[in-house]
Amino acid sequence: MKTTKTTGWTADALVIFGATGDLARKMTLPSLYQLEKRGSLGVPIVGVAFSDLDDAGFRRFARDAVAAAGGQPERKILERLLRRMHFVRGDYADAATFKRLGEQLGQARRPLFYLEIPPSLFESVVLQIHAAGLHGNARVVVEKPFGHDLASAQALNASLLRVLRPDQLLRIDHYLGKDPVQDLLVFRFGNTLFEPIWNRRYVSSVQITMAESFGVEDRGSFYDRVGALRDVVQNHMMQILALIAMEPPVTTAPDHLHDEQVKVFDAMQVVAPDEIVRGQYQGYLSVPGVRRGSHTETYCALKLEIDNWRWQGVPFFLRSGKALGVTATEAVIELRGPPQRLFGHVGSAIPDTNRLHFRLGHDAGVALRVQAKRPGPGLDTEAVDLNVDFSAALGAMPLPYERLLGDALAGDATLFATERVVEGTWRVLDRVLGDVVPVHRYAPGVMGPAAADRLTKDWGGWVAPVGAPPPITRGRRGRR
Ligand code: BG6
Repeated sequence: MKTTKTTGWTADALVIFGATGDLARKMTLPSLYQLEKRGSLGVPIVGVAFSDLDDAGFRRFARDAVAAAGGQPERKILERLLRRMHFVRGDYADAATFKRLGEQLGQARRPLFYLEIPPSLFESVVLQIHAAGLHGNARVVVEKPFGHDLASAQALNASLLRVLRPDQLLRIDHYLGKDPVQDLLVFRFGNTLFEPIWNRRYVSSVQITMAESFGVEDRGSFYDRVGALRDVVQNHMMQILALIAMEPPVTTAPDHLHDEQVKVFDAMQVVAPDEIVRGQYQGYLSVPGVRRGSHTETYCALKLEIDNWRWQGVPFFLRSGKALGVTATEAVIELRGPPQRLFGHVGSAIPDTNRLHFRLGHDAGVALRVQAKRPGPGLDTEAVDLNVDFSAALGAMPLPYERLLGDALAGDATLFATERVVEGTWRVLDRVLGDVVPVHRYAPGVMGPAAADRLTKDWGGWVAPVGAPPPITRGRRGRR
């Protein structure tokens, strides 16, 4: 995507709230190493957290985090990164923490504050930044989820914008920083091949799956208050959907892109309770931090509809879950069959339809399923895949946080969610948040509860992600 500066200035310091948390260790610090390696960092970094650390301790933490991310960090680059790092220990509710932060920032006038802290603290930290007079030319990046429903997202937005200008607030969604996700846009609008068929005339349905083979692990107390719908559907999956469904933007300037994304949500029907299925994997209730008898969903599947000329009548199915049979993020565009059935098909009377299968996760790429003639006598067809593996074809991709923090430091808001997009996604999901439909138990290792099959049954069923286990038939391994 073309990089378009929106502020005209780059940050002169990076401040990370929650600098010793899990996200910092797994994602942020390894990404900062990559930015340092590319020579795009160039600013002091101040970590803020309650942990009992000093500069040296924070640097040790960062060194371990970079090492744990794999690869062999280059010593000179790592040392250069560590020399930039300082630590301010303190309570986010205490004005003295922000006074010390101000002293540490010294002459920096355009800090980027990155809040990777529980969402309940966003507001108070921003108010403290303001009260300490550190907000003037600052930018603030907040992690997801932004609010927990439409009303709270609107309230949070209003409250933050009482002390910040809209262009100072960046809502991060790391899926937007993933190259294969951005590629949806390039694939659609950088080629002439697909756009003519990208509509209700040719597309019968769209499926987006975000499956994870691991459970909630050590995030029980966070996850139990959030659930799959708020954790990944409202943000990551909706962003993917918008890139698949949006109209071509006039340019790749942030405003033009965001305008088209907003229109997708404006045209979307509010999801009704009979269009969502929730699940919970067996064993979830014994995860530390999960409330006794919790009904939080670790799986959800839903049907979305977009009422516009392009998509009317084409269902968009989304599903996501923990402890499933595979880890994969995929989007499948299922095309209608040819009007005339000329050929026989191996395995069934009806040939498979064409299908574009985007792999947006670790084995990123795209496969186009077409019919080919089966060797031998007759004119039977067999489905074959035209497949591209992006890393083999195009080389290594940046880490999502590397891209997004680099953009935020440079003042580029293109890949950040706007207020209207965030509120649009909450509006669509507002009726089905929480405990509105029952949770179905599912065994770890399957692709979610069988109850979700009813959503897609008239559209050929769920498309298995690459590497997923075959569906379990009832009775063979017990009822689910
Ligand atoms: C996070 C969610 O936003 O995204 C996690 O909170 C989820 O629950 C993660 O596991 C998935 O990200 P990725 O990049 O590994 O697909």
